[in-house]
Amino acid sequence: MKPFIADHPLIQHKVTILRDERTSSKQFRELISEITGLMCYEATRDLPLCEVTVKTPLCETTSHVIAGRKLAFVPILRAGLGMVDGAVELVPNARIGHIGLYRDETTLKPVEYYCKLPGDIGERDVIVLDPMLATGGSAVDAISQIKERKPRSIKFMCIIAAPEGLKALQEAHPDVQIYCAALDEKLNENGYIMPGLGDAGDRIFGTK
Ligand code: PRP
Ligand code: URA
Repeated sequence: MKPFIADHPLIQHKVTILRDERTSSKQFRELISEITGLMCYEATRDLPLCEVTVKTPLCETTSHVIAGRKLAFVPILRAGLGMVDGAVELVPNARIGHIGLYRDETTLKPVEYYCKLPGDIGERDVIVLDPMLATGGSAVDAISQIKERKPRSIKFMCIIAAPEGLKALQEAHPDVQIYCAALDEKLNENGYIMPGLGDAGDRIFGTK
């Protein structure tokens, strides 16, 4: 499935400020939320609608509402937490699951430490949230865990992707639609996205 790479000027502008090493944690968190909201607008474009009758001050008419489709957002801890507010602002009734994973610094392989998903995930469309898609190991693993619970569908949303991660995720989960705000050049020898924005978790939470 072809990934969606955002080309909207507002998203590109905000991503540039995110990359800037001088951006404070406060502003970084605000920008992650804003970009996630804008990306969610795109990721929810295919939600089905149904017709309802509504009475305006002037007359009765038919109009459309979302057809009761159930959504769940699943942030990958820690950095994915930074995307939750922006997503929930757009879809307030969505349920939130959590998957805890960190990358082992030497092997770059994901290490699982937590998984709590909504009980009715089998009836839900899931959007997995993580700002960084680097080697793709974390996203591939998180999506495999979610698939065991058989949701209706899964999408993956990130802010910055490396070509290596995009390829790995597409190969492992070809049925998952991927949304990225920016596609960068490559990974460096430590598995960091270049030019990237550094360590997303540290910048969101002000650690390090
Ligand atoms: C970061 C990021 C992704 C992962 C991406 O998390 O938020 O989850 O790295 O790398 P990958 O595509 O190579 O797996 P990190 O492991 O730094 O954990 P943290 O969010 O707890 O800081
Ligand atoms: N995780 C991050 O936070 N940043 C990267 O560049 C790669 C993985």
